[in-house]
Amino acid sequence: MTREIYIVGNWKMNQKISDIESFFNAMKKIKGKYNCHAWVAPQAMHIETCLKLGRDNGILVGSQNCADHQSGAYTGELSPLSLKDIGAHFSIIGHSERRHIYGEVDNYLNAKTLLALQSGLWAIFCVGEKLEEREAGKTNEVVKRQVTEGLKNIPSEYHDRIIIAYEPVWAIGTGKTATPQQAQEVHSFIRNELLEQINLDAKAISILYGGSVKPSNVKELLGQNDIDGALVGGASLKGEDFGKLCMPE
Ligand code: PGA
Repeated sequence: MTREIYIVGNWKMNQKISDIESFFNAMKKIKGKYNCHAWVAPQAMHIETCLKLGRDNGILVGSQNCADHQSGAYTGELSPLSLKDIGAHFSIIGHSERRHIYGEVDNYLNAKTLLALQSGLWAIFCVGEKLEEREAGKTNEVVKRQVTEGLKNIPSEYHDRIIIAYEPVWAIGTGKTATPQQAQEVHSFIRNELLEQINLDAKAISILYGGSVKPSNVKELLGQNDIDGALVGGASLKGEDFGKLCMPE
C-alpha cells in the first residue's frame, strides 16, 4: 500500500434528502475529473441513499461513528458488521465531537477501531489538540497519546485500511485553519515519530488534515509533504464546493 489522496466529507448532523440529491447531481457533472478518492460520511439513515447515488460517481460512503460491539443489546448503536453488510466502506472514529461532546476515550476508540477493521471497514482515526492544549505547548503530547493509545495492538493484516486525520479542535468549524506549516509540523511528527512506535508503516499511511478546509485553502494544504488529503465538514455539504476540493486548480 502507498499513500494516496483522499477528500472525505463529514456531513455531521446535516443534509436532508433533497440536499443529498443536489450534492450528487453537482458531483455527476465532474464525474471522472477528480484525481483523488472522494468519500462522504452522511448521517446513518442516509447511508443507503448515498450508496445508491454515489455508485455512479465513484464516491464511496461510510459512517461518522460505529459501535465497539458487533451486535447485541446496545440500543442506539451502529454495528460495524451491519455497516459493512449494507456496503459502507469506512467509518470515522474518534472525531473530536465524539471525544469531547460524548466523552469517548482512547481505550474505547482503540476497541472501536479494531472492530471496524475486523468487520472489513476502513477506519479514519481522528486526533487533534484543543486550543488550551496548543497554547500550553502540549500539542505533541496530546497527539502522541491519542495516536499511540488509539491505534495500539492493531494486527498488521489490517494496517492497509487505516487512515489518520489530524484535526486541531480549535480549527474545526471555526473558520480558523491551521497554517499549512502548523499542520505539516504535526503530520510530520505523527508520520516520522509516532507510527514507528506502534509498528505502522510511515511510508504507507495516509494522513489527512481537517479543520476549516475549503476550496480556497485546500491546494496549499495538500502541497505539504505529509498531508495526504482532507477531512472536511462545512465545505463538503454542497457538491459544487466538494467538487472544487476534489480537483484543486
Ligand atoms: P470543518 O469540520 O471543515 O467544518 O471545520 C471538519 C471536521 O469536523 O471534520
